Amino acid sequence: MTSVLVYGAYGHTGRFVVAELRKRGFEPVLSGRDAARLPGGRPASVDDPASLDRALEGVAAVINCAGPFAVTARPVAESAIRAGVPYVDVAAEIEANLDTFELTAGTAVVPAMAFFGGLADLLATAAMDGWAAADEVHVAYGLSGWNPTAGTLAAGRVSRERRDGRRIRYAGGRLEYLDDALPALEWPFPEPLGTRPVLGEFSMADIVTIPRHLKVREVTSYLTADAAQSLAAAGERDAAETFVVEVVVRAGGEERRMVARGEDIYAVSAPLAVEAVARILSGRTRATGVAAPGEMFDAADFLRALAPHIVVEPR
Ligand SMILES: NC(=O)c1ccc[n+]([C@@H]2O[C@H](COP(=O)([O-])OP(=O)(O)OC[C@H]3O[C@@H](n4cnc5c(N)ncnc54)[C@H](OP(=O)(O)O)[C@@H]3O)[C@@H](O)[C@H]2O)c1
Repeated sequence: MTSVLVYGAYGHTGRFVVAELRKRGFEPVLSGRDAARLPGGRPASVDDPASLDRALEGVAAVINCAGPFAVTARPVAESAIRAGVPYVDVAAEIEANLDTFELTAGTAVVPAMAFFGGLADLLATAAMDGWAAADEVHVAYGLSGWNPTAGTLAAGRVSRERRDGRRIRYAGGRLEYLDDALPALEWPFPEPLGTRPVLGEFSMADIVTIPRHLKVREVTSYLTADAAQSLAAAGERDAAETFVVEVVVRAGGEERRMVARGEDIYAVSAPLAVEAVARILSGRTRATGVAAPGEMFDAADFLRALAPHIVVEPR
């Protein structure tokens, strides 16, 4: 059986990834920093590269689910590169994703292979099929709520610290940091959601995955205002949200839309990450080395493979 190391295996997302690997016929090898939570697994610390190298011995790929990725992405990815083993992570930290894009690898390295970052990149890539460039990409997240995990909140804190409390956006073909408040807007989601208040420029990892390989000067994310509020008033994660993600691409007066629907943004990150590993290990890739999800894979084909977890349709 093909074994895949899951770093951060006992975290909320890591557990979904372990279950999905088993379902898909892979052998998950459990890793993370706390030996007590890894009976029979391979404990390893990001401060001890040799321990990571030992954990990676004999596995075919690694999925990193341990965030903040500002701390874990580089050491785990570098260990994978040393071992010549593909690396996939679920990082939704813009600066950490950029750090990973800076690496040089002889093997596949795909950051942000999850709900935030990967999914919209695949949708935008599929929507732009046949276009050399777009003027604008808009990514609207319609969430019924958002009970974030401790890992999400920690990642958010680290990202805010890294940008000194400022916000970030991708406009005019570059990333820029701003001090003002996010614009309050409305987004006309498809039914049953309908038109909803959203926060504009609620930048997600999409602002780095998409421009990494698609020629576009504006990438803007939006999040339903309700979800942004529940994120601020975080408690226990006791309910799964439903989601509608709408991606709009515009070029020279032409517009295309793609919509993805599903439930539980953490759970669906597992089929995204595991599908990526399955494709890398079977050679169904379009790029080598470090690449964004939409750059590495045939986006339309990848999206079709996500059903029934995520259902995608042009609008
Ligand atoms: N892109 C997306 O859409 C998406 C989707 C899901 C998750 N994520 C990201 O994935 C990360 C994990 O989320 P989660 O929901 O699984 O959170 P979680 O349940 O709180 O789990 C966090 C995991 O990371 C581990 N960890 C934290 N710091 C570590 C370090 N320095 N070294 C080794 N392991 C460390 C934790 O281990 P300990 O318990 O030992 O600290 C735990 O296993 C977050 O950054 C989140 O933003 C992104």
